[in-house]
Amino acid sequence: MAFFDESFDSVAPAEGRVEGVAKVTGKGKYAAEYEVRGVCYAVLVDSSIASGTIKNINLQNAKQVAGVIDIVTHQHKPQVPGLADEAKIKESRFGLPVFHTDKIYFKGQPIAIVIADTLENATYAASLVTADYDTTPFKVDFEKEHPLNPLAHAGKERGSLDSWNNLPHIVEASYNIKAEVHNPMEMHATIAHWISNDRLKLFDKNQGVNNVQRSFARLFNIPEKNIEVFSEFVGGGFGSGLRVWPGALAAVMAAKQVNRPVKLMLTRPQMFHSVGYRPASWQKVKMGADNEGNIAGVWHQAKNGTSVYESFGEGITRVTRLIYKFPNLKAESAIVPLNLSTPTWMRGPGDCTGDFAIESAIDELSYQIGMDPVQLRLKNLALDKNPDSGLPWSTNFIDECIKKGAAMIDWTQRKNKPGQTRDGDWSTGYGMAVGMWNAGRGNASAGIEMRKDGSITVQTAMTDIGTGTGTGMYNIAHEVTGIPKSKIKIELGNSTLPPAPSQGGSTGLSSVSGAVVAVCSALKLKLAEYAATINEKYKGVTAADVLLSENGISLKSANTELVSYSQIWSKNNLTVIDLEASSGPGEERKQYAFCSSAAHFCKVRVNTKTGKLKVEKLVCVADGGKIVNEKAAANQMSGAAVGGIGMALMEEQVADGHLGGLVGNDLAGYHFAVNADAPIIDVAFIGKPDVNINPTGAKGLGEVGIIGVAAAISNAIYNATGKRLRDLPITPDKIL
Ligand code: MOS
Repeated sequence: MAFFDESFDSVAPAEGRVEGVAKVTGKGKYAAEYEVRGVCYAVLVDSSIASGTIKNINLQNAKQVAGVIDIVTHQHKPQVPGLADEAKIKESRFGLPVFHTDKIYFKGQPIAIVIADTLENATYAASLVTADYDTTPFKVDFEKEHPLNPLAHAGKERGSLDSWNNLPHIVEASYNIKAEVHNPMEMHATIAHWISNDRLKLFDKNQGVNNVQRSFARLFNIPEKNIEVFSEFVGGGFGSGLRVWPGALAAVMAAKQVNRPVKLMLTRPQMFHSVGYRPASWQKVKMGADNEGNIAGVWHQAKNGTSVYESFGEGITRVTRLIYKFPNLKAESAIVPLNLSTPTWMRGPGDCTGDFAIESAIDELSYQIGMDPVQLRLKNLALDKNPDSGLPWSTNFIDECIKKGAAMIDWTQRKNKPGQTRDGDWSTGYGMAVGMWNAGRGNASAGIEMRKDGSITVQTAMTDIGTGTGTGMYNIAHEVTGIPKSKIKIELGNSTLPPAPSQGGSTGLSSVSGAVVAVCSALKLKLAEYAATINEKYKGVTAADVLLSENGISLKSANTELVSYSQIWSKNNLTVIDLEASSGPGEERKQYAFCSSAAHFCKVRVNTKTGKLKVEKLVCVADGGKIVNEKAAANQMSGAAVGGIGMALMEEQVADGHLGGLVGNDLAGYHFAVNADAPIIDVAFIGKPDVNINPTGAKGLGEVGIIGVAAAISNAIYNATGKRLRDLPITPDKIL
C-alpha cells in the first residue's frame, strides 16, 4: 500500500513556494480582496458591557447616515433556521448565537451589523449605534476565578500517587500562562453572496472550506453543494480559522437581509475577541525521581479559561501522557468560565501549554539530582510505545532529535551550575526542552486534470494557510509521476474541488499527500490503459512501473518506446483527463501509535541589571518523518519557534477588571515576537520516513515547532541567572 520509490530522497531539496510570487506581488487575492459586483460593506457594532441584557438598541442616528442600507439586530434579522429556537441553537453547537439573543456574554459581542454603500459610511454609522442594557456582574480575571473551579480526572490514572511520595527528589510548583491571541496578519473577512434564495457563495478567510460549507448548510438548512466557499490564499491562521465564527454568520445574515453581496472585515481590535485565542491557564506539577534519575511519577493539574456560553478544554495534560514513561501518572483538569469570548485551538494547542510545565519541572529536577537535563530526558523517554494507549510507536526519533540538537548548539558549553557565565551585567545560559504531538491523518481527496500538452493540475479543497501544503503537493506530484515541475499546477482552497479536511492539528500534508499519491497513481494507470490501445506492452502494468515525462509515457521495467501524449490523445479522442481519488487512515491506526517530535535548544543572554533578555541562538530539530520540501518545512519550524519566543517573553492578552474589556487590543498594545526578537534559528530534521502513516511517510510539523520552545527559553534563563520563572510571559520585571 505504501508508495516508496528510490527517487524519494529522505530530505528533498529546498525550493520556493508555488504560491510565493502570487502572494508577494499581490496577485493572490485574500478573502476581502475579491471583487463582487454590487457588493456593499458591513461593520459590526460591539456591546459596550461585559454581562447583561440588551434593553433597547438605538438606531435612529445611524440610519440618518447617507448610504446606510439596513441594520441587522436581534430584533430585525433574516431567518436562520438552524438557530430558530433555544433547542436548535443548542443543537447547532455554533457557540455564540449572534443576533439570536438579547443576552450579553462578553464585552465586544456583536449586537448589530450595519450595512452601507461604502466602508466609510458603514463605519461611521456603526459608531452611532448605542444600546441600553441591564447589566449584571461579570468575571474576567482568570487568576481570581480559577480557584473556585474544582478539578476532575483527565484521562486514565497510571500506577498510584502514593508510591513515589518518599523519593529523594521531588519538585512541586505552579505555572501560569496568560491568554495569547493568534493575530494572523490577514484579518478575518467574509464576502457573502446569495446567488439565489438557497445558493450561497462565500469568499472567506478560514482553514477549512468544507467545514465552512457544512456549517452554513446546517445553519440555513440548504444542501452543502449549494454553498461554494473560496479561501485560496490565507494570510496566516494558527488555528483561528478552524471554526466558523459569529462574524462570518453576521455577514451571511446581512447579505440575506439586504439581498446584495456583503463584505465584512474585522477590525484589528475585533480580532482579539472574535476569532478565538489561547486561553489563560494555571498548572501545578509534582514530579519525583530517584538518585539515578528514574522519574517515577507525575501529578499534573491544569485549568484553562473558557467563555460563559461555551466549554473549551484546551487538553493541557494530554502531552504529559506521551513523551516519558512516567509509570505513575495522575492528571486532572478544569475549565473556568469567564465573560470573554470563547477561546480556541492556537498553534500547539494544549500541548504547548502543558509541555511548558512538564519541561520546566524536569529541568528543575535535573538540577536537584545533579544530572544533565539531556541525560535525564534520554533516560526517561518512552521510546518503544505510546505509554497511554500501549501501542508501539510507528516511528519515534525524539532521542535522535535531542542528540542532534545538543551537538548543534554545542551543549558542552553549558555550565552545570546556574549563573556561572558572566560578562559584566550580562549572564549567559543554555536551556533545552522537547515537544511531541500525536501525528494524525484524515480522509482527503485530490483531483488531477491532464491536457494533451502533458501539463497537469493537481487539486484539493484543502486550504494552504502559509504552511506550504500546495508546495508539498507539487513536490509529491512530481516525484510520483515524473512529470516536470514546470508542467505542474496546484489548485486548492475552494469547496468546488475534491473535499479535504481542514488544515489544522499538523494533519494537512499527512492527510492530503495520500490522496495526491493515489490520484497520481490513478493517472499513470489511466494513461497506461490508453497507451495499450497503441502498444500492447502497456496492458495490465502497475502504477509503479509507469514513468511519465514531459512528452509521454514509458515503462521502467521493459524497454518500451515512449508513447507520446499527443498519440494517446488522438487515438483515444481525448480532451482532458479528469480523475479523482481519496485516501485516508486505516488499520495501521489500530496497530501503531504515531507522533511527531522536536527538541529545542537555546542560548540566552540576560542583563541582570535591566532584565533585558536576548535569545542568542535557537536550534530546533524535528522528527517529521519524510521531509517533502525542506525549505517549507524549515519555515514551519522557525516560524513556530518565533511564536514560542512570543509566548515565552511577551504575549499576553490583558482583560480590564473594571469594565470587562480587553486592553492593548492592537498590534501596538499586544506584543509578539518580530524579526528583531528572533535570532537565526537553526532547523534540522531527522528525515526518516514513517512508512505506516501515509503513502509518503511525511508526518505533520506545524505544532512541534512551538511545543517546548517556551520551556527551553525559561530553562536557559535559569541556567543564566539561577532564577526559576514559571509564569509566562517572562517580561523583564520578572527577571529582576
Ligand atoms: Mo492549528 S492550532 O493546527 O491551526
